[in-house]
Amino acid sequence: MAITVDPKGSGGAAPPAYVTTPAWRFLSSLPVDRKLARYDVAGSIAHVKMLAAVGILTAEEAGALSLGLRQIHGEILSGRFAWREDLEDVHTNIEVRLTENLGPLGAKLHTGRSRNDQVALDERLYLREAIVTVQQALLNLQLALLDQAEAHGETPMPGYTHLQHAQPVTLGHALLAHFWPLARDHRRLADCFERANVSPLGAGALAGSTLPTDPTLPALALGFAAPFENSIDAVSDRDYFAEFLFDLSLLSVHLSSIGEEIVLWASQEFAFIRPAAALGSGSSLMPQKRNPDVAELARGKTGRILGDLVSLLTTLKSLPLGYQRDLQEDKAPVFDAVDHVLATLDALSTGISALEFDEGRLLAAASDPRLFATDLAEYLVSRGVPFREAHEIVARFAASTDGRLDAKDHRAIDPRFGEDLADLFDVHKALRRRRTHGGPSPEAVRAQLAQAQETVGRERYSISKHAECVELVDRILREETQ
Ligand code: ARG
Repeated sequence: MAITVDPKGSGGAAPPAYVTTPAWRFLSSLPVDRKLARYDVAGSIAHVKMLAAVGILTAEEAGALSLGLRQIHGEILSGRFAWREDLEDVHTNIEVRLTENLGPLGAKLHTGRSRNDQVALDERLYLREAIVTVQQALLNLQLALLDQAEAHGETPMPGYTHLQHAQPVTLGHALLAHFWPLARDHRRLADCFERANVSPLGAGALAGSTLPTDPTLPALALGFAAPFENSIDAVSDRDYFAEFLFDLSLLSVHLSSIGEEIVLWASQEFAFIRPAAALGSGSSLMPQKRNPDVAELARGKTGRILGDLVSLLTTLKSLPLGYQRDLQEDKAPVFDAVDHVLATLDALSTGISALEFDEGRLLAAASDPRLFATDLAEYLVSRGVPFREAHEIVARFAASTDGRLDAKDHRAIDPRFGEDLADLFDVHKALRRRRTHGGPSPEAVRAQLAQAQETVGRERYSISKHAECVELVDRILREETQ
C-alpha cells in the first residue's frame, strides 16, 4: 500500500503533539483504518451540523467545515490525498489536512468529541454497509440454490446419514437443505444490524462533554435508531464486531458444508455433477483433471474466518472498560473476514448456477434397494406390526441378503408381506410416499419452495430498509442533506 511513511519527508505540517512519539510506526493504524475514510468524513459533517445546531459553531463556520471535509473526501477518492502514517490514523490525517486548508477554523472540528467515540462511530457506519453488502451476496447464493432446487424438485438421489445410503430424497430437497441455514444467517445479520445501529458519537473520550452537545442530532442524521445510553459503554463496546464475526463464522461453516458436498459429488466415486469450468481449474501435471477448486476453497476459507473471530475475542477478553489501545487491533480481522466471505459467496453463487447434475447417475444411486429398508419396515407397521419388531425383521432380512432387499421372496421372511411390494422399490413412488411436512416428496418440495420464495421476499425487504440508513452516508458526502 503506497503510504508516505517518513514524517520529515512528508512535507506536511508537524504532527500534533498527541500523536508525536518515536514509536509512531508501531502505533500507526493507518494502513488498516484508511478504509474508514468515507465514514469518518460523513461522521464529521454530521458532528459539525450538530455543533452549529446547538450554537457552538456559527452556520458559516459549519458550512465552511462541511465544504472542506467534502473536498478532502474528493481528494481521497481521486487518490490525491497524501496519507501520512506519522499521523497515526485516518481520523488525525483528515483533521490535520482540514486544518492545513482552513487554518484555525479546522481546529474547531474536534470540539466535543474524541477519537474514541469517533472510531467507534466510523466502525458502526462501516459495519452497517458491510452487513447490507454481505446480505445481498448471500441472497444471490440463496437464489442460485433456489433455481437449482426448482429445476430438480423431482430428481431422485440417495439421502445420506454417516455418509452412507440412508433413504431416498429429491435433489431439490437436498439443495434446499442448504438454503435454510443461509436464511438463518441472513436473519442473524439483520439482528446484528439492529444492535450495531446505535450511535456512539457524543460519548467523547468516555464522559461526554461540558459543552451543550446533543448526541441525538448526528445519530438521526446518520440514520441510527438512537444514540448510546452510556458514554463509557459507547467507547468500550465492540460487541457489534464480535457478533458480526460470529455471524460470518457460522455462515462460513455453512459455506464449507456446501463446498464439501460439491467436492464429494464431483468425485469419480459419486459423479453426481459433471466437471464445470465455473467450479475450478485443471492440474498443471495431470491432463485429465478438472478440480472443484471453488468448492474446496469455500471449505478452506472457513479456517481464516474462524481465526478472525478468535482474534477479535482474544483482543477483547479482560479489557477494562473505556478505550484501550488494544482496541485498535479490532478492525483488521473484520475487514479480512468481509473480503473473504464476499469473495466466497460470489464464487459459490456462480459455481452453483453452473452445476450440471448427472440425473442418470443420481437415479442409479437412488435405486439402491438398501434405501428402501425403512419403507419395508413401515409397510409392516401399517399392517399392525410394532415398529421395533418390524425393524428387526427387515434388519435380519437385509443381513441375510447382503443388502439386496428386493432379491428374495419376502413372504418367506414374514407372511404379512403382500404381493404389492414391487411398488416399494420404485424410487419415484417411494418419494411420493414421503409427503410429510418439510419432506422430500416433489409435492412437499413445491410447498417448501413457496416458503423459500416468501423468505427471499422478506430478506429483500430487510435489505432495502437497512440500505436506506446506509445510503445516508453517501447523501451526506454528496451534500444532499440539510
Ligand atoms: N487509532 C485508534 C484506533 O484505531 C483510534 C482511536 C485512538 N484513540 C486514542 N486515544 N489513541 O483505535
